[in-house]
Amino acid sequence: MTGHPGALPLAAFLAGALALAGAAPAAEVPYEGFKKCASCHKSQSQSWRKTGHAKALDLLKPGVRSEAKRRAKLDPAKDYASDKDCLGCHVTGLGKEGGYDPADPDLYRVGVSCESCHGPGGRYQLVHREAAERFEKKQATTPRQGLADAGQDFAFAERCNACHMNYRGSPWKGAQAPYNPFAPTLDAKYRFDFDKAVRDAKAMHEHFKLDGVFAGAPVAPFHEQFQATARPIGKDAR
Ligand code: HEC
Ligand code: HEC
Ligand code: HEC
Ligand code: HEC
Repeated sequence: MTGHPGALPLAAFLAGALALAGAAPAAEVPYEGFKKCASCHKSQSQSWRKTGHAKALDLLKPGVRSEAKRRAKLDPAKDYASDKDCLGCHVTGLGKEGGYDPADPDLYRVGVSCESCHGPGGRYQLVHREAAERFEKKQATTPRQGLADAGQDFAFAERCNACHMNYRGSPWKGAQAPYNPFAPTLDAKYRFDFDKAVRDAKAMHEHFKLDGVFAGAPVAPFHEQFQATARPIGKDAR
């Protein structure tokens, strides 16, 4: 920490965010890749696959969104798909344990996938499995706090901010290079309003009714609202 006036509020804010996200800093929990999540959450996965997030790595290929690239002073003919100044926000867990590795690209770490929003799943996915068994056998619910302690994120905003608010001159205190070249100064459409954006099911995935395997805090402020209009999960898919 430096003597920068922003340092204290940031530290306090991060402490709050960590308390919400669980005890251990997320970076210590390994990434799992979306194959695991998808094997149990077929409905969300099928919906997510149609989103821009799922296809985010394609944006770095030559000839894709050429006009937008030109306006951001990028070269539309260049292949940015292995450029470390770009990859971090277009794949999952770049440079983290179990995350996307440009030297050994893995299909299940491509794009902005489950763990980019829900947190690295190396530990909490095991809790999901155990909790499901308890629920089936004994009708017993499991406290969500255990998920948070294992690295699952129920606050979301800081994860979104790390990509959407990380541009040069951003009011977001965590901003640092490499920056998002598509800042609101370039076009107002790049302005990020978390409360509005997180309600865009076409950008996250559609929401499906939970059985209620997990109970209690922490829970996102919009959780009840989403569940109230959530679709039932198909017979063939969880
Ligand atoms: C700090 C995160 C971050 C970095 C680094 C980053 N991007 Fe992105 N990129 C985003 C986000 C978030 C969006 C969605 C648009 C927005 O900003 O709201 C996006 C959108 C895009 C788009 C679509 C823009 C449009 O209007 O259609 C392209 C193309 C793209 N990025 C290419 C790149 C390239 C090339 C690089 C490296 C030179 C790069 N990005 C680096 C976060 C990032
Ligand atoms: C790892 C980086 C990353 C994270 C984390 C991330 N996004 Fe994105 N987001 C992107 C990129 C890249 C795009 C551009 C997709 C495109 O243009 O096709 C995007 C697109 C979007 C869009 C669509 C914008 C449009 O032009 O319609 C919305 C809405 C959005 N994100 C909201 C969120 C929210 C809310 C969160 C957190 C819950 C989040 N994102 C987390 C990188 C990220
Ligand atoms: C861009 C961010 C984002 C991505 C990517 C994402 N989710 Fe979500 N997901 C959310 C948000 C926000 C919620 C709502 C949380 C709540 O209601 O408590 C949610 C809710 C859920 C739920 C609870 C039930 C429901 O449908 O609302 C499950 C299960 C889930 N996601 C699984 C996944 C899986 C599996 C993937 C990857 C295939 C994934 N998510 C990708 C943001 C995301
Ligand atoms: C072995 C199967 C399994 C795996 C693997 C798994 N989950 Fe789950 N998950 C479940 C079950 C079962 C529930 C409880 C669903 C319910 O209450 O209806 C659950 C619940 C959730 C919820 C909702 C938690 C809440 O607030 O109630 C989210 C979000 C979620 N999973 C995301 C993920 C993500 C992301 C991954 C991958 C890192 C993943 N899951 C891996 C089975 C699994």
